[in-house]
Amino acid sequence: MEKKTVLSCIQPTGHMHFGNYFGAVKNWVDLQEKYDCFYGVVNYHAMTMPYKPDKLRQNTWDLIFNLLATGIQPENLFIQSLVPEHSELSWIFNCFTPYGRLNQMTQFKDKSSKSTDDGFISAGLLNYPVLQAADILIYRADFVPVGKDQDQHLELTRTIASRFNNQVGKEYFVMPKGLHTETPKIASTADPTRKMSKSAGEKHYINVFDDEARIRKQIRSAVTDTGEPSGEMSAGVENLFLLIKAGGNEQAHVSLMEDYNADNLKYVDLKEAAAETLVALSQKFREKRAELLANKKEVKGQIKASSAEIRKRAQQTLKDVKDLSGLMNVRF
Ligand code: AMP
Ligand code: TRP
Repeated sequence: MEKKTVLSCIQPTGHMHFGNYFGAVKNWVDLQEKYDCFYGVVNYHAMTMPYKPDKLRQNTWDLIFNLLATGIQPENLFIQSLVPEHSELSWIFNCFTPYGRLNQMTQFKDKSSKSTDDGFISAGLLNYPVLQAADILIYRADFVPVGKDQDQHLELTRTIASRFNNQVGKEYFVMPKGLHTETPKIASTADPTRKMSKSAGEKHYINVFDDEARIRKQIRSAVTDTGEPSGEMSAGVENLFLLIKAGGNEQAHVSLMEDYNADNLKYVDLKEAAAETLVALSQKFREKRAELLANKKEVKGQIKASSAEIRKRAQQTLKDVKDLSGLMNVRF
């Protein structure tokens, strides 16, 4: 049986913390075994908020190296701007998008209320979900592994796909589905009532590529008791257990859980095990990244080549779409 297609994308922001890794990237890595996977670093999307060109370029390559180091296969990885068909399809889709839906999007409302550039809000930010629909439909993805926060964008993607199908009189696009696998929500170790995130500030995230000293320090200062009634596991303790388990340290998890159940758990042991787990993972990834960076030119060349290969599939879809829409096609 032919493999189903999976697509997901991530914006190039300079960091990859353990929340991103356990919540999204690890899942992408695992899906590669069973599906035909396309993973994009979406630099066109990153232009929708005020940004600096040099930083965008740097962040895009940084993220590529980080994704490769954590186990994404190069042939599955592309840079969005190296497949310019995304933006052309996005224009076509704009004409199949009910515009009133765009300013109802939660992400648009959130981001536009946080404009850091003197109230400037780009039309690109409003049209962001249309470009996202193009990312997904251009590969005719069956499944899109994303967090629940992206459900609204997926729903809009299906609206666009079915309006297109109706208008051209052909069931051309299949309706993509979200893939909500068991993605653990990692909390901030400094404040376990909120999620680990970069925007909350220095204390609230641990990067996958941080050096050992910083990882240990962040875990050492993790909040454990947050005033829960006795007999209930505190959010901080639960989060440390989760990090140990998600990091694959099953043995430590079992034995510390026994201590916990016997009312005998020492927080210093729990923290030590959490730190060990993250340090070991991080070490593996840092070594892999150093190897890749030692061959920077080749690796970049490889990603350009994989983007070109992936582009062929996008070109085929765009050609069909233009034919179906009554647009002339460039011969290629
Ligand atoms: P962001 O950088 O917030 O856009 O997130 C990129 C991806 O990482 C998304 O799929 C999020 O759902 C996931 N993610 C971000 N923070 C966390 C977290 N603290 N726990 C679990 N998943 C997260
Ligand atoms: N909007 C997604 C996010 O904020 C990123 C994204 C862009 C995406 N295009 C996509 C996710 C296509 C899945 C599929 O995380």
